[in-house]
Amino acid sequence: MDFYSTTKETAGIELGVYMCGIIAILSSKPVTGRLVEGLSRLEYRGYDSAGVATVHENTIFRKRAEGKLQSLKNLLQEEPISGKLGIGHTRWATHGSATKRNAHPHKTDRVAVVHNGIIENYQLLKNELVNSGVQFQSDTDTEVVVHLIDQALQSGKTPEIAVTETLKKLEGAFALAIIFKENSNLLIGARKGSPLVLGIGENELFLGSDAWALAPWTQKICYLEEGDIVIMKHDIAFDYVILNEDGQPVTRSVRQLEQEVNVASKGGYSHFMLKEIFEQPKTLANTISSLIDEKNLKSLINLPIDFSNERLTLRLVACGTSYYASLTAKYWFEKYARILCEVDLASEFRYRDPVLGRNDICIFISQSGETSDTLAALNLAKSRGCETLAIVNVPESSMIRAADHHILTLAGPEIGVASTKAFSAQLAVLCLLALDIASKRKTIDDATMKEFLHELLEVPNLVAKVLQDVSVFDQLGLRLSCSRDVLFIGRGTNYPIALEGALKLKELTYIHAEAYAAGELKHGPIALVDKLTPLIAIAPKDSWFEKTASNIQEVASRGAPIIVLTDDANFNMSSSEFHKILLPTSSPFSACFIYTVAVQCVAYYTALHKGTDVDQPRNLAKSVTVE
Ligand code: AGP
Repeated sequence: MDFYSTTKETAGIELGVYMCGIIAILSSKPVTGRLVEGLSRLEYRGYDSAGVATVHENTIFRKRAEGKLQSLKNLLQEEPISGKLGIGHTRWATHGSATKRNAHPHKTDRVAVVHNGIIENYQLLKNELVNSGVQFQSDTDTEVVVHLIDQALQSGKTPEIAVTETLKKLEGAFALAIIFKENSNLLIGARKGSPLVLGIGENELFLGSDAWALAPWTQKICYLEEGDIVIMKHDIAFDYVILNEDGQPVTRSVRQLEQEVNVASKGGYSHFMLKEIFEQPKTLANTISSLIDEKNLKSLINLPIDFSNERLTLRLVACGTSYYASLTAKYWFEKYARILCEVDLASEFRYRDPVLGRNDICIFISQSGETSDTLAALNLAKSRGCETLAIVNVPESSMIRAADHHILTLAGPEIGVASTKAFSAQLAVLCLLALDIASKRKTIDDATMKEFLHELLEVPNLVAKVLQDVSVFDQLGLRLSCSRDVLFIGRGTNYPIALEGALKLKELTYIHAEAYAAGELKHGPIALVDKLTPLIAIAPKDSWFEKTASNIQEVASRGAPIIVLTDDANFNMSSSEFHKILLPTSSPFSACFIYTVAVQCVAYYTALHKGTDVDQPRNLAKSVTVE
């Protein structure tokens, strides 16, 4: 596989940002405290219960608690457990409600397991187990794994064989960490469809959902591959063997990562999301400068892809916020590179049997690089012979490994569940890619290219200007916090930014928010307009401004409160309630970044006034690894 990186290859942190979090430690020292610390580094993923289990004096001890990690910490204060071998888990409920009985680890007397993913054939397996007399303690799919291993152990199989045989019966996705009552020196891990990393410490070994969870104790990380089983033992020394899905010993490279251990800190901000909003001048500068030769104003993107084919179609595929970045890019690819660009939701693309062929280049955009719908869509495109490009924020993620080519966004680890700096970095990469293709296809001349690249190099400063005074967003947030419904509108590239603004408001404040193409409002949605439904218009003074102003007036005349984000200082209108947020003047390119940061701030401050959980909004996970 041509594993091609355009930007500086970094042995980065695999923040496989999954819904559940796994930590496991085999050590010469007590592990309970560090299991909990590891879980705290996985909290950002979103979860609703947590638990740990250890092996000590041939007994498995387990503690679990609903809700936030503090509940588990309190329980362990009252009822501590010991051991130099243990597993821990933060659970985002899929099968079975978010209760203690469904919290991991799941166990029998002989074996305990933590699991990330979904066992798709669990009902069949559960029925067989129940018919054989097994009594289930939970509603989870995971528990079938525990009982299958337990039954194999009872039949005299070794732990290694018991696990190997059990895994062959499972369908679906799993990352597992497994401990055994009789073996206080044995830890087994397995990966299929959910990431799992092996950490190599001093006289101890680790398993984690991502390398970052292990960062305080080791920088030596081995990324397990699909189908791998790792058997870790502490005899005289600490050692491990990795078996591939055929049961053959394999060697996987061990990487020495430069991990930002302190990325878990909020750096003085009240929320990770606020910190990441304010990081954008820096993260945009990192991403943009990694792709532009600033001295000669030339693109540094040089993908080994021939974009000259006149019959080429670009197909952008993504989910959520990344999908809105794709919708924005469609305008750039078609306007500047004159290349046909289709945009699909990954969850639709993978099931609509799309017409794909060798004239299609499929681009997959993802912060985590692990979203299952997007990953499945990527694999579908590959199976149809399409060339694939992944634009991803997490190095070493599954999409980076699966795609023919990749471009890294250099936003750094994004902890807030609501994506901010990763989105603006995606816009930067997509914008530069569109210009790079346009330049190669000669649909823009060199002078224009240099002008556009110069504009992009100015984007971090413009974004910094927006963030110089956020009091306007704070005041607007107070006003919006009492709303039940909010409408967003925009034209051209302002429309997908309006969509992103509506999503940010929805996911952070739980206020119902919808975005429409400004010209579309009168085709039905204007029926929603009333004096209780504020309208937020994304209206930079660009070629679409006059028409957008008319659409705003149509809404104002029906009594709706009007909020206009614009750089037109003179813009005004008579309406029952009118707010204008003045933003820096810029080119259409740069406006996307300016108004993106503005709508992020609107959502953040509204959530602050509403008192919702900004970093871990209800029901959400950082990346969606289930369908
Ligand atoms: C972003 O604010 C949302 N939390 C969500 O829509 C996210 O963008 C989506 O799940 C896609 O995630 P990805 O970029 O990691 O693939």
